[in-house]
Amino acid sequence: MYFVVFGKNIELSKIELNILNPSNLKIVGNVAFFETDNYDFLSKLSGIVKYGKLINENEFVFDPKVILGTNNLDFANYIKKKYGIKRYKIIGLQNTDLEIKNKGIEILNFDGKCCLVKGYQNIDLYSNIDYDKSISGMNVGMMPSKLTHLMINLGIFSSDNFVNNLSIYDPFVGFGTTGFVANGLGYNFIGSDINISSVKKNLKWRNETNFVNNDKKFTLYKHDVNDLFKKSFLKNVNVIVSEGFLGPLVSRKTKKHEYINNQKKVLELYKRFFDNVIAFWGKNNINLCITFPYYLESDSNFLETELSFHIKNLGQKFFVPKTIYHRKKQLVGRKFIIFE
Ligand SMILES: C[S@@+](CC[C@H](N)C(=O)[O-])C[C@H]1O[C@@H](n2cnc3c(N)ncnc32)[C@H](O)[C@@H]1O
Repeated sequence: MYFVVFGKNIELSKIELNILNPSNLKIVGNVAFFETDNYDFLSKLSGIVKYGKLINENEFVFDPKVILGTNNLDFANYIKKKYGIKRYKIIGLQNTDLEIKNKGIEILNFDGKCCLVKGYQNIDLYSNIDYDKSISGMNVGMMPSKLTHLMINLGIFSSDNFVNNLSIYDPFVGFGTTGFVANGLGYNFIGSDINISSVKKNLKWRNETNFVNNDKKFTLYKHDVNDLFKKSFLKNVNVIVSEGFLGPLVSRKTKKHEYINNQKKVLELYKRFFDNVIAFWGKNNINLCITFPYYLESDSNFLETELSFHIKNLGQKFFVPKTIYHRKKQLVGRKFIIFE
């Protein structure tokens, strides 16, 4: 039996977990317990903080010199008494303690169940991309890399695909977050945008980071999604992953009718984009996970309704999870479209 501790976006994380074809799934709060034949893929999940295996405490020998990390004080005291361990640390379920991660052992304990932590989220890759990039900007939006990783996995959808030499495409590449995450994870990447100068400025930084995979392709080209996809290298794309256009800027002063106009502008662009995707790759033939803007101050759901109607009419199977991702103080959240 295996377990994962989910991060913040539980609904999306649960969808992601389905990639592993879990059986006997039981979810208690933020923790999921399950069986799977795809244990190797646990380390590829993004919507989790830590993961591991259930163990029988009696079959486990504690080295008293190793520091124990656990969520449960009673369990820590019990192990201390039984095995004579010198130190332990109590760690929040969703926290990671660097000392324990690097040289200790972490065992979670729930209702007598012992869960040995085998791995943690790829925090080093995420913070490198989020904080060390040469240029980034809040005015056009920028996806956190952990969420981008989750979107890549939601786009990939089937665990069979993890083993292939995957190619990820972001048609609204912006500063290049999707590309840097995809490349850091060992995937080939293609990015396009009407303006590729921002991502190009980040290439020098990218080539100097420890997370670069130089043996993977990183292709950029200029493209307006209103135009047909034509490049032959796009035929190698396995998954389209993108944070799309967020529409004209909004502020606290934006009026209701302006929000409707924004949604209309975004809708027109997304309709053309989806028409062009289906024209090039065919319906139900390409994996995709893309965000669309959700205006938190608007009382109209017009964009989601019209967009869903349009994609359905194209004959493409898809779903829109309920989750609205947004950061504090942001007026524009993101919702997700995932092709089935
Ligand atoms: C929200 S940003 C993407 C930011 C990106 N996710 C990142 O983390 O850096 C949206 C991008 O869409 C691009 N864009 C807007 N209209 C476009 C169009 N018609 N065709 C292609 N790209 C477009 C903008 O130039 C901008 O870079």
